[in-house]
Amino acid sequence: MISTAKRHELTLLAAGQPWLPVLLLAGQAAKPLRKVPRLGWFVGDPLVARQIYNDATHFSIVSEGAVGHWWAQVIGDWVDDLFEGPGHNALRAKSRDLFAAKYTDALVQRVMGPALKEISNDLAAGKTVDIAERARVLVGRSVSDLVGMEPGDIAGIFGLPGTDDPDEPFRVLFDHVEELVNLGLGTMASTALDPDAVARARTLARQLATSVPAAYERADTDTTLGRCRELGLELEHASGLAILMAVAGTDTLASAMTRMVALLHDSDGHRGLLAAPERTPDAVRETLRVTSPAYLVGRSVTAPVEIAGRRLVPGDHVKILTWSINNAVGDFDIHRDYIPATRQLWFGGGRHLCLGAQLVHSELTALLEALTVTGRPWEIVERRYRRKVFIPTYQVLKIRLS
Ligand code: HEM
Repeated sequence: MISTAKRHELTLLAAGQPWLPVLLLAGQAAKPLRKVPRLGWFVGDPLVARQIYNDATHFSIVSEGAVGHWWAQVIGDWVDDLFEGPGHNALRAKSRDLFAAKYTDALVQRVMGPALKEISNDLAAGKTVDIAERARVLVGRSVSDLVGMEPGDIAGIFGLPGTDDPDEPFRVLFDHVEELVNLGLGTMASTALDPDAVARARTLARQLATSVPAAYERADTDTTLGRCRELGLELEHASGLAILMAVAGTDTLASAMTRMVALLHDSDGHRGLLAAPERTPDAVRETLRVTSPAYLVGRSVTAPVEIAGRRLVPGDHVKILTWSINNAVGDFDIHRDYIPATRQLWFGGGRHLCLGAQLVHSELTALLEALTVTGRPWEIVERRYRRKVFIPTYQVLKIRLS
């Protein structure tokens, strides 16, 4: 029988994109890989997924069908070098320590600390807190650091009227990035964007990068762009990386945060966690496994290759079904130990392994600590799923302490 937690997860996926749960559940049968007419190869096996991630000779992230192709249309062909050429090697080498745990923990305390404290205080005072709304603000705060925008910059760039609400600029920044991410809707068969979408995406990306040059010049070394400068990244790379980080780490992170709170409640894991706080890293890992916000990762074949007995030819599209692979292991369970087969496939693999993985861990851990500090479990008083979004999530998730 399907668990309550799983039922909510599948309904949430369907609200985002109606065909998504069908595809992702059917994808669990795509083992090791299966060809679907017009769409390409679907991969439902962790070993084959890792083999593809590690094979830069036959698989590309910048050809049609993969995310780099989408990006090249938005910010220019130089992205090819940022993603795949020698520029990518240099970028990864220089940014190796950009998100070391010591730095990400400090970043989270600096940009989110007071907002997290407010959540703890509100819950302790018996108030109802909308975690979905809070997650958008928390992530907006995190993104403002990645792109070097102060609240005043956000108000100026996006024409925000004067407001007394200190969270409003961060909501606006979140919505801005989400609009850019949602332009990815409908790119399942092809990553070629129509001219209107390209024009809109370029405007959104340009606005997002507005503050980067000044922040790169002047920002303190405890900010992300200040660190990029110190680590020797050139301005052009820091600028491209800032947009990339914002887009990669906005909806995915807010989705993981909100769904984590719902999953813990729906599986009764919150009570288990309160009894055994040392299980926090397991709760975070299980959240990422079960939600797998980057549910599908694309690659294109650039040279003939045989994988698991199948012959793939140049031009073929490959879709690694991250969600399907990770969820084949079983339901959300904070008592589940590390699974060697899936490792951390929710963050991809090989040379493009998520750059923000440590930041994600620090942010999810900090949110969990803010929720459990009172020592009491929570109940959900209202939930609504967000409709028509590239990365499915909750629109509303109101909780209060039991
Ligand atoms: C739960 C949240 C997140 C998930 C599930 C996630 C997942 C992923 C995945 C699957 C990839 C590989 C894509 C591919 O191979 O085509 C990736 C790449 C990337 N992620 Fe994340 N990500 C998350 C949050 C973040 C955050 C917060 C940042 C910002 C610091 C970030 C920055 C990046 C960057 C820059 C890349 C590209 C790396 C490269 O091409 O070398 N991500 N992410």
